[in-house]
Amino acid sequence: MYILGISCYYHDASAALLKDGIIVAAAEEERFTRKKHDTSFPLNAVRFCLESQGITIRDVAHVGFYEKPFLKFERVLHQHLATFPKSWKTFVSALPSWINEKLRVPHTIQKKLGYRGDVLFIEHHLAHAASTFLVSPFQRATIVTTDGVGEWTTTAYGIGDGTDITLLKEIRFPHSIGLLYSTITAYLGFSVNNSEYKVMGLAPYGNMNPETNEQYTRLRRVIDLKEDGSYRMDMSYFVYHHADRMPSQKLCELLGGPVRGPKDELVQRHKDTAAAVQLITEEVLTKILTHAYRQTKCENLVLSGGVALNSVYNGKILHRTPFKRVWIQPNASDGGTSLGVASFIYHTLLGHPRNYIQQDAYLGPRYSRGEVQAFLDAHGVKHSLFRDDKHLLSAVSKLLYENQVVGWFQGRMEWGPRALGARSILSNPCNPEMQEILNLKVKHREKFRPFAPVVCVEDAPTYFECDLPIPEPADFMLMVYPIRKKWRNKIPSVTHVDGSGRLQTIRREQNPLYYGLVKEFGKLSGIPILINTSFNIRGEPIVCSPHDAYKCMMGTGIDCLVIDHFLVRREDNPQHQWDSEKYATD
Ligand SMILES: [Fe+2]
Repeated sequence: MYILGISCYYHDASAALLKDGIIVAAAEEERFTRKKHDTSFPLNAVRFCLESQGITIRDVAHVGFYEKPFLKFERVLHQHLATFPKSWKTFVSALPSWINEKLRVPHTIQKKLGYRGDVLFIEHHLAHAASTFLVSPFQRATIVTTDGVGEWTTTAYGIGDGTDITLLKEIRFPHSIGLLYSTITAYLGFSVNNSEYKVMGLAPYGNMNPETNEQYTRLRRVIDLKEDGSYRMDMSYFVYHHADRMPSQKLCELLGGPVRGPKDELVQRHKDTAAAVQLITEEVLTKILTHAYRQTKCENLVLSGGVALNSVYNGKILHRTPFKRVWIQPNASDGGTSLGVASFIYHTLLGHPRNYIQQDAYLGPRYSRGEVQAFLDAHGVKHSLFRDDKHLLSAVSKLLYENQVVGWFQGRMEWGPRALGARSILSNPCNPEMQEILNLKVKHREKFRPFAPVVCVEDAPTYFECDLPIPEPADFMLMVYPIRKKWRNKIPSVTHVDGSGRLQTIRREQNPLYYGLVKEFGKLSGIPILINTSFNIRGEPIVCSPHDAYKCMMGTGIDCLVIDHFLVRREDNPQHQWDSEKYATD
């Protein structure tokens, strides 16, 4: 039985396909349209899912949608009426998309996909809950979902038991810790629903002591937090409930200055503000998690919703709360809800026992050696071919050790926002210049952001002060841990200002070639760790196809591309070089 899940029209549209309860394919639409965070109907992602199984929409038993649009529209109407006439302009500009798209989902699915059955809708936070619990290793778990907003819910907790999911309590719009974080993201001059992780990265440059951080004391006034984790926000500090902007004039006054322009200097006040919102988020989450545990008495925790991508807090959960184990969906934000609704239909609605644990995030398209060869030949790309894995690992680890920047394209594309060794850029973390080299050649990111390290799971405790056994979400780059002091200056490009690292742990069975490469590099350098950053042009989504990867390499300063068993060097193909920075928009 095939079940198709769909998520779209907010951010990160996606599709996921289940076959008898097993996730066989899942991808975000942005990877195909090359439009970052594409919200449009995921026609390309659905096509990929169906084609990967050699089936058509007629073979799909059920189609599920990740939220209830009419309930969401009710909230939009309600907030419009409650804040009229201030809301009028925003409401009028949003109306056409509601009438033409968002309230016509069954019609669109029928028209675009030729699907003739009923479409099943579930509430957004239920889709989040299902996306993490039903594919987790736990038969029973406490579930916490936290995001910007679904229909009405912004935070919820409950219990998962077998195939049942019960959400016990919720916090409703406009009160939202996710939207508070996004408001500060906007205040600091970064893009909302895209750059929240930059605020998280900036926070340790600020004062992380709540006793002495004045921005914390100020910002803390906007939220009334109770002991049970329930909270209300003073909405006079925000305008997101009736406008396209987020912070109000009053919030700017409270924080001591106007919204920062994207090119303005980041001063200490900005850094302290980033620290303040991170501290408050951690405080709120700790209270919610602790309260949820008291209600459920279940020591297994599963998380989802955009706030679950806060890897800095995730690394602290087992210290700060009573939970003993934690699992997080790699695509914890809205992209993951297509998988959630499909799993919910199969297990919770239809009652099929659970038969799947998500072990990795490699659910996207793959390209055969023949397809890659055909691409290289068709475009006259000069390349060489490795005889086998052993030769590949030996040569590529040497290239990395010699400080080459390598585009690494292997197997199925990752599901979720992180590159995890299928569409990654890899380089040498031991070189103190490497952060600058990567920024100069390809990433052009803010200086305050370090790169992420990948390490084989059994080596992680040597280099990181991590929980033991190391929680599985570290496989998805969702846990930040302190790097052990003696190693910090040996891997400077992946060490953050506070000594932490957003590591990816890799297990042999997940991706033997990638695992082998990290080990092989370790033999040369003495440290089995690589820099792993996403394979993309600035402002664009992670590459999907060989064409995307080649174009990215030729438009940036990536030295070579290792794609399947082929090695393509940038310098061997001067005819295709171009400057992606001229067109970068981020
Ligand atoms: Fe969400």
